[in-house]
Amino acid sequence: MNLKLSFNQVKTLQKCKENPSRFLKFCTILGPSGDQEFKPFRWQKKVLKSFKETAFDPKAKRGHILIGPRQSGKTTLIAAYALWYALFHNDRNVCLMAGKWAQANEILQRVKEIFIKLPEYMRLDTKIDRKEIIQFTNNSRIFSCSANSAMLHGRTIDLFVIDEAAYIDDFNFEELMHCVLPVMMSRKDAQTIFISTPHKKWTMFYKLYDDAVKEKNSFVPHRVKWNCRPERTKEWLETAKKNFDKDQFRCEILADFI
Ligand SMILES: Nc1ncnc2c1ncn2[C@@H]1O[C@H](COP(=O)(O)OP(=O)(O)O)[C@@H](O)[C@H]1O
Ligand SMILES: [Mg+2]
Repeated sequence: MNLKLSFNQVKTLQKCKENPSRFLKFCTILGPSGDQEFKPFRWQKKVLKSFKETAFDPKAKRGHILIGPRQSGKTTLIAAYALWYALFHNDRNVCLMAGKWAQANEILQRVKEIFIKLPEYMRLDTKIDRKEIIQFTNNSRIFSCSANSAMLHGRTIDLFVIDEAAYIDDFNFEELMHCVLPVMMSRKDAQTIFISTPHKKWTMFYKLYDDAVKEKNSFVPHRVKWNCRPERTKEWLETAKKNFDKDQFRCEILADFI
């Protein structure tokens, strides 16, 4: 891309860099009735603000744990945030992770879908665009891998995203923490974000979340409630209660650990 930017476009890019909420206005996502502008739900706005405010602040807690109901918009939010992080900051490595590579890759596909629909002046050229990685001309890249991936060892990661973390078994979770924690401890500007629909209690992920709530570790907990989307009314909740199995209702609708 070799576009001459107008004064207004330069100003818009500056504002988007300063405020990812502003960037969302230029993102297109799949809403209930097709492609639409990413108008964040209230919780998405709040969480995004917290991610941004802590991202480059050496004194802030830079670990986050976001739990919430299924289909509340967690993955969509993190896809837009990861893209903002990579497009507006040079030389950054963003790692998208999940228990299975295919799951992690789904987030990368969401990132790419948002990217290709951005206005042309907002899109950087890509240096690499393969199934598991996208790298821009500012040398920032976003790649996907599974939780037990050997490819993580020794890599410099600036933003770690682990999606559906409650579903990673303890063995792989422990391995993963061996990769994540040293980076968090040694780097002043690395950020780690765990996201999940809650699942079983007494797992390593549950402990991490529970300790965060009790302020016993350096993660910020965020819990999205059942009424996280405007269409989720009390009537909707009653219908869901009838249709879901009890445990599934608690995890996937109420966002409780079981
Ligand atoms: N703010 C929003 N407005 C409208 N639709 C949204 C919004 N955020 C997410 N969505 C849509 O809701 C659906 C579920 O989102 P997703 O991020 O996959 O949820 P989760 O990861 O919490 O299960 C997707 O189709 C997504 O495009
Ligand atoms: Mg998801």
